[in-house]
Amino acid sequence: MICPPTPEAIARAAALLRDGRLVAFPTETVYGLGADSTNDRAVAAIFEAKGRPRFNPLIIHVADVRQAAEAAVFDGRARKLARAFWPGALTLVLPKRPGSAVSLLACAGLDTVALRVPNHEVALALLGEVKRPLAAPSANPSGTVSPTTAAHVAASMAGKVAMILDGGPCRIGIESTVLDLTGRDPCVLRPGGVPASAIEAEIGPLARPGTGDPAKPRSPGLALRHYAPSRPLRLETHGAPERRNEALLAFGPDAPAGYVRTLNLSVAGDMTEAAANLFAMLRELDREEIGGIAVTPIPDRGLGEAINDRLKRAAEPEIAAPEPEAAVPCRAPQRTG
Ligand code: TXA
Ligand code: MG
Repeated sequence: MICPPTPEAIARAAALLRDGRLVAFPTETVYGLGADSTNDRAVAAIFEAKGRPRFNPLIIHVADVRQAAEAAVFDGRARKLARAFWPGALTLVLPKRPGSAVSLLACAGLDTVALRVPNHEVALALLGEVKRPLAAPSANPSGTVSPTTAAHVAASMAGKVAMILDGGPCRIGIESTVLDLTGRDPCVLRPGGVPASAIEAEIGPLARPGTGDPAKPRSPGLALRHYAPSRPLRLETHGAPERRNEALLAFGPDAPAGYVRTLNLSVAGDMTEAAANLFAMLRELDREEIGGIAVTPIPDRGLGEAINDRLKRAAEPEIAAPEPEAAVPCRAPQRTG
């Protein structure tokens, strides 16, 4: 399970990842729970292994700026910061490049993507071998302390990962700083390994709560926008359509009939498959000619809880709660999640 990072072990880890399995690997900040970010099923398995009650977007780890630029659109600020801090503990949230191979689930359906090049030789060797961007949150169950040794990972994730690469203790020990560059004013969404002052030395002042354009206040709730369909969403349907041109997002074998279009998250009732399909199917049904989207009940077991959390918030976007984990600018570094 725990493997020293020999070239053979790294080749085996890369093969497992390409096969859709989960591999824990060291970075300079904390150990990551890695999956092929271009594979929705593999990404769903991350959420399952962490037991996250909701789908937060994940950080995508890349080998270099060139690979990052295949996934996201870089402006001058982003290029400058990447030159200054990569490889390193700075994650940049950037507009996702149309046609990017990174899975919708890894970005929680958003049009943005969070990227970093980790500063750890084992992580870089693995990325070089996999040749695909890796989604990797910290390798611990949701709500517990992030792991900074391979033994920490083994203690809480044994049986949930195919392999743990041992790179020794993490040098930094807290997560990367997450910087949002998708708006006019760059903003720290999560304080971390690179201090805000070092970022400001490169690109000037960062947005702080209570500063900037008062007409466009930056609240935690706004900092991490969630994908919500533009069509009205109706949950827990058991029967026929209730509006013109209503489409159905079904789960399980017994989908009700009569809808203008039906997509099934998982005919077999498999939660991992359903999670992998969720954002792509919502987008597929979110079309002008569709009058609304009805969703059949989804049991709250396993990933069903996260699926239902997302659907509930998509059905009532105006009361969407602020994001506790992600988007609280300028607070003490968070060590759990
Ligand atoms: O140090 C780290 O960053 C570790 C190691 C393993 O690299 N990784 C890590 O990943 O902490 P993760 O996936 O747990 O971090 C997710 C953070 C959350 O705060 C999330 O909200 C934010 O990044 N994030 C990811 N994608 C985002 C996006 N598109 N927009 C806004 N925030 C995003
Ligand atoms: Mg975490």
